[in-house]
Amino acid sequence: MEWRGTETEVPYGLTSTRGHRGGANTGPVFVLGRGTRMKITRHYFPILLSFLTLFSWGGVGRAQDSMLARTPPMGWNSWNHFACDVSAPVVRAQADALVTTGMKSVGYTYILIDDCWQGTRDDAGYIRPNAKFPDMKALADYIHGKGLKIGIYSSPGPKTCGGYEGSYGHEEQDAQTYATWGMDYLKYDLCSYDGMGDQIPAYRKMNDALKKTGRPLVYALCQYGMQKGWEWAASVGGNLWRTDDDIRDNYFSMAELGFGQSGLERFAGPGHWNDPDMLEIGNGGMTDDEYRTHMSLWCILAAPLIAGNNVVSMSAATKAILTNPEVIAIDQDPLGVQGHRVTQEGPLEVWMKPLEDGSKAVGLFNRGWGAMPVAVNFRDIGLGDSANVRNLWTGKDLGRFQGTYTVLVPQHGVVLIRAK
Ligand code: GLA
Repeated sequence: MEWRGTETEVPYGLTSTRGHRGGANTGPVFVLGRGTRMKITRHYFPILLSFLTLFSWGGVGRAQDSMLARTPPMGWNSWNHFACDVSAPVVRAQADALVTTGMKSVGYTYILIDDCWQGTRDDAGYIRPNAKFPDMKALADYIHGKGLKIGIYSSPGPKTCGGYEGSYGHEEQDAQTYATWGMDYLKYDLCSYDGMGDQIPAYRKMNDALKKTGRPLVYALCQYGMQKGWEWAASVGGNLWRTDDDIRDNYFSMAELGFGQSGLERFAGPGHWNDPDMLEIGNGGMTDDEYRTHMSLWCILAAPLIAGNNVVSMSAATKAILTNPEVIAIDQDPLGVQGHRVTQEGPLEVWMKPLEDGSKAVGLFNRGWGAMPVAVNFRDIGLGDSANVRNLWTGKDLGRFQGTYTVLVPQHGVVLIRAK
């Protein structure tokens, strides 16, 4: 009952509207805003006060934030593959594999524990992990000892999407606990807060609590793009924010999310990124061409690259898709500009991301059936009459082309080039 904004009053416990019918990828249940009652009151003094608070937060908090997520965060998250079968031994094994497979050396840094780690609160209200995570501090120390970082998951509502304990009414205690354990990242997932009122103060509240700990934590908002999250997420401290519903391990889910990001590019930049959700590469539901499309598109979108597979047992093909340094360099380019769609002819799309050295990353995508030629006109992407072209998946320089570059692209596939 602690959640009471100065300008907004929202009754607690109206509806818990988002949850899971099973494990990962079984689909969330949404009932938007059912039963929500909101009363806006206007008081000039509190408004002035919030303005002053915001101003001071902007000066101090932002300076700290700007060091975080300067490029889109990269790492591994437990949800897409393990769902609630996550445990400390699983997390340790994935961290070990991140190092031994070379994923760490190409930039995958954050080991993220998603839902289902929570136990009960102690008498003072502090959250304790469940039996699968006997010592969270020891786990964090282990991850840090490998030169990696660690993240955790909660919800602004009373329950997480998996029905575990959320942070509602315990924001400061939870932030303090995460900091004490040594967490470097928090994914804050709307879940049961849906229907309880305006999300903006709820997300700001946890940001304030995180700031108060003095420990820099990447703050990942997960509210599926509701209330046009991309318009306000950065202003409440978000370093990344989900823009849509959960990804599933199939081409149509991935394509709907990835190709659906067009128009959001102006909201992204160093320290604050659109998140079309985590990677499914290696989970088995797509062909290698489709997974290469997934990776290429996410890199052109400057999306967070959070692997969601079992790294311990990944195949050589999965590893090749996840760890190609030239492809990852597109995502991590220091200019930090999210790419956008340049042309579309039915299922054939050309997307371009400008890079710091003046070259352009170009994805030539075929969303249709059967192989088809796709062309990019150099003038359409801000280059002159001719350009040098390098294929990033094959690692081959293809030479200089006049006017356009045209290539046969497999069904659901991509040709990813760098042109200058
Ligand atoms: C939501 C999120 C997922 C995952 C689950 C965990 O569905 O969107 O990414 O965190 O909750 O329950």
